[in-house]
Amino acid sequence: MTQTPPAYLCPICQSALSITENNKSYACAQNHHFDIAKEGYLNLLPAQHKKSKEPGDSKTMMLARRGFLEAGFYQPLAQALSTLIDQHYTTNSIMSILDMGCGEGYYSRQIAALSKPSSQLDLHGLDIAKNAIIAAAKKQKEAHYIVASSNDMPYSNAYFDLIFRVYAPSNDQEITRLLKEHGLLLTVTPGPRHLWQLREFIYDTVRDHSTDIGLPEGFKIIETQQLSYKICPDQEQRMALLQMTPFAWKTSIEIQSKIEAAEQLEIEVDFTLSLAQK
Ligand SMILES: C[S@@+](CC[C@H](N)C(=O)[O-])C[C@H]1O[C@@H](n2cnc3c(N)ncnc32)[C@H](O)[C@@H]1O
Ligand SMILES: [Zn+2]
Repeated sequence: MTQTPPAYLCPICQSALSITENNKSYACAQNHHFDIAKEGYLNLLPAQHKKSKEPGDSKTMMLARRGFLEAGFYQPLAQALSTLIDQHYTTNSIMSILDMGCGEGYYSRQIAALSKPSSQLDLHGLDIAKNAIIAAAKKQKEAHYIVASSNDMPYSNAYFDLIFRVYAPSNDQEITRLLKEHGLLLTVTPGPRHLWQLREFIYDTVRDHSTDIGLPEGFKIIETQQLSYKICPDQEQRMALLQMTPFAWKTSIEIQSKIEAAEQLEIEVDFTLSLAQK
């Protein structure tokens, strides 16, 4: 896979970062230094920009997500993402892609594995949780992972051909700044019936998820896909899935036990994939 050099900006003074002679760190003209960690990632989240000691998902949440995703339950989603990316790949060019709020990197690994062998992808992943970036970088040496916030993404203007976000926090201004002219934004949001049977345990009345995907101003939708199917996770996988949801925190211990104890629970998954252009 051919790679272009990463186009990082210094998170302290916003000038360009270049790799130093020993290939072990990046530095800007003002001599702010950022070491490449042994796992291969770069931490570009200065301590003074952190709102808590360990921002983002905890290690427990990250491992639950990894276990569930690696079991293949969302593989059809990864396949759909990869197919869409392939369809928009322009022959003989390198396509630079950012996985925003990438977590432990499942979708980037899948995209690298599933995309056409001829596609030259320059894959980048960003997450505010250091534990997730360590896990992602360990598994995918050829991708470029950084610890940073989606509100302040330290890449130079118009670096990316495509940004994707799967259940990830977002920032319209930063997406607009980072995408090339006519660049693509691929968003995955929960479809109306996503995890319906899980939500039935938690809410008296289950409602359709809202279908608002929150596009930055001036972006036009060029394609929308609905992907729905049923999964049948075992008890442990079900609990991991619950941990991955935003409603986990409002699920009491009693309800969690009910979900765990249920026999053979079939759960609908429903994703909306929206491809928009700048
Ligand atoms: C629901 S998870 C989705 C992870 C991944 N996209 C996936 O689907 O496997 C949301 C991710 O956003 C990260 N996150 C939360 N706030 C963030 C921020 N301000 N900037 C970047 N990432 C953030 C969390 O650490 C977590 O990994
Ligand atoms: Zn600097």
